[in-house]
Amino acid sequence: MSEPSVTLTDAATSKSVALPVVSGTLGDPALDIGKLNKETGYFTYDPGFVSTASTRSAITYIDGDQGILLYRGYPIEQLAKQSSFLEVAYLLINGELPNGEQFRSFEHEVAHHTMMHESLKNFLNGFHYDAHPMAMLCGSVASLSAFYHDTLDMNDPEQRRLAAIRLIAKIPTIAAAAYRYGIGWPFRYPRNNLEYVTRFLHMMFEVPSEPLELNPVVAKALDLLFILHADHEQNASTSTVRLVGSTGANPYACVSAGIAALWGPAHGGANEAVLKMLEEIGDAKNVASAVAKAKDKNSGFRLMGFGHRVYKNFDPRATIIREMTHKVLADLNVSDPLLDVAVALEEVALKDPYFIERKLYPNVDFYSGIIYKALKIPTEMFTVMFAIARTAGWVAHWLEQHVTPDAKIGRPRQIYTGAAQRDYVPVSKR
Ligand code: ACO
Repeated sequence: MSEPSVTLTDAATSKSVALPVVSGTLGDPALDIGKLNKETGYFTYDPGFVSTASTRSAITYIDGDQGILLYRGYPIEQLAKQSSFLEVAYLLINGELPNGEQFRSFEHEVAHHTMMHESLKNFLNGFHYDAHPMAMLCGSVASLSAFYHDTLDMNDPEQRRLAAIRLIAKIPTIAAAAYRYGIGWPFRYPRNNLEYVTRFLHMMFEVPSEPLELNPVVAKALDLLFILHADHEQNASTSTVRLVGSTGANPYACVSAGIAALWGPAHGGANEAVLKMLEEIGDAKNVASAVAKAKDKNSGFRLMGFGHRVYKNFDPRATIIREMTHKVLADLNVSDPLLDVAVALEEVALKDPYFIERKLYPNVDFYSGIIYKALKIPTEMFTVMFAIARTAGWVAHWLEQHVTPDAKIGRPRQIYTGAAQRDYVPVSKR
């Protein structure tokens, strides 16, 4: 039986080309257009990669119409209920859930790579006192390559694995240090006897003068948020990590580039933007005018936390977070008027034909800021929280890309719209 293919015919020349069909285990099939240009002289145009798969990947699957998200085949709802962030990180990287011994060993290894080099403090201390923590994180993670020459041989699987562990282990330490620098607190060393999320919260909030009394609800809520943010297949920041990785660049440079991409308000920066938007709206009675403004294309205003490139039904992470927001605020005995604004905004938008027709639903970031706020995480740290969690996904993709047989340097084409060839004119004649 011949391999499935789709034949394209050029109406002008009647020339045909058979494009092989590539199928994965789930999801729509794709056309392999790798030889299209060579055989027809055409290439394809797809701004924003709306119809283009850039790679094969076995890590995460999304069905945007059904609102399904699977990490290595496991539904996000099951992982959110039963797993932990560090177990999910292991799953993303290794492909299978760990047994007890494998998990203990992974946890032990991560815990023993959490310290940052003392010299890294010099980098952090060089930032202006009001530097955004994402800027500090981005720069400091890139600088890690200068500290770990011993794991920069990209051809050695053990060095690649160790680099991945270092990134997962050290990014929370750097993130907490970036926060403390901004408020003038001394950096706090990681404590190996604590589990991953609790250790991070201690590095964030413990002062030298007294021990931190941590409410377990806070650690549980943050762990769940980290699970929900851990991976999302070929999103903008992960694609950035893979594009930089395709050049053979070191993993610290790749993840730093991913952090920069995540920072944008159309991507991970949305959680910070959502909270600012809710504060600006201020009261449920102002929701209708905010929705009207979001529909007005001349306003330049969008409802932050609404819409998604892939989810056109609902974002399953948003469903989990919405439920969790009410529970966490009740458990922590926090009453936040912004939650009322968010609920009212969601209600009005979901009934509005503009949002219904365009299939715009709340995304993962719509409610996450309200939870972060209840956990006393400052607004400018919201995207940093996302980066800590997404590091698990970034390194999983970076590792996968190094064992992909048909991997190539990423190099998109363009439709050139500039001037045709012309001759240089000396300045005296211009
Ligand atoms: N508010 C108002 N209108 C919107 C919104 C929004 N949040 N999102 C999309 N639209 C409109 C667009 O104006 C467009 O309308 P048109 O068809 O009349 O021109 C239509 O919906 C489609 O929008 P696109 O921008 O083409 O959709 P795309 O898939 O490229 O963008 C994105 C997705 C970037 C998430 C967009 O919905 C957005 O900007 N949302 C707000 C920012 C946000 O919450 N980002 C976080 C995403 S989740 C994450 O990265 C973790």
